Amino acid sequence: MIKKIKELFMPVLIAGVFIGGLVLMFTGNNGSGGGNTIQVIVPELTALGEEGKVLFDASCASCHGDNAAGSDRAPPLVHDIYNPGHHGDEAFVRAAMNGVRAHHWAFGNMPAITNVTEDDVLKIIRYVRELQVANGIATVEHIM
Ligand code: HEC
Repeated sequence: MIKKIKELFMPVLIAGVFIGGLVLMFTGNNGSGGGNTIQVIVPELTALGEEGKVLFDASCASCHGDNAAGSDRAPPLVHDIYNPGHHGDEAFVRAAMNGVRAHHWAFGNMPAITNVTEDDVLKIIRYVRELQVANGIATVEHIM
């Protein structure tokens, strides 16, 4: 009887360990997160947003992460401080064209991104704004 139970449960146990390992692989700290990645809800993108995503993935995601969720190299852009009231579209263009001096975070400076045009950045902004809206980031006017 006991042997029978073991025979029955062994495959379940092995499957459990295997699945557990997979879950750890995908959710655990695998080095790319660096503790700064956030959960981003990805909405259905508009055509322009989709174009922006392709450009973002090519030029920005290496630092700002997939879906602009951040990485150990740069902050998430799907973040309250990058709401359109605090970091308007021109802040994005400026960032890409001139680079950014580290001021909000401790990742270091952002270099100028030389392989994107201003037009590309406008599409990237559209993509990031669509992600922001889907993740509840609302425009808060910046008062200084
Ligand atoms: C080499 C890494 C790197 C790449 C590539 C990169 N960024 Fe950044 N970016 C950073 C870091 C680091 C910061 C945070 C600076 C700080 O401390 O405020 C930043 C900040 C920003 C900001 C905030 C600017 C501000 O005024 O505070 C915007 C917007 C931005 N990045 C957009 C982009 C876009 C768009 C791209 C792609 C075209 C891109 N970044 C590619 C590293 C990068």
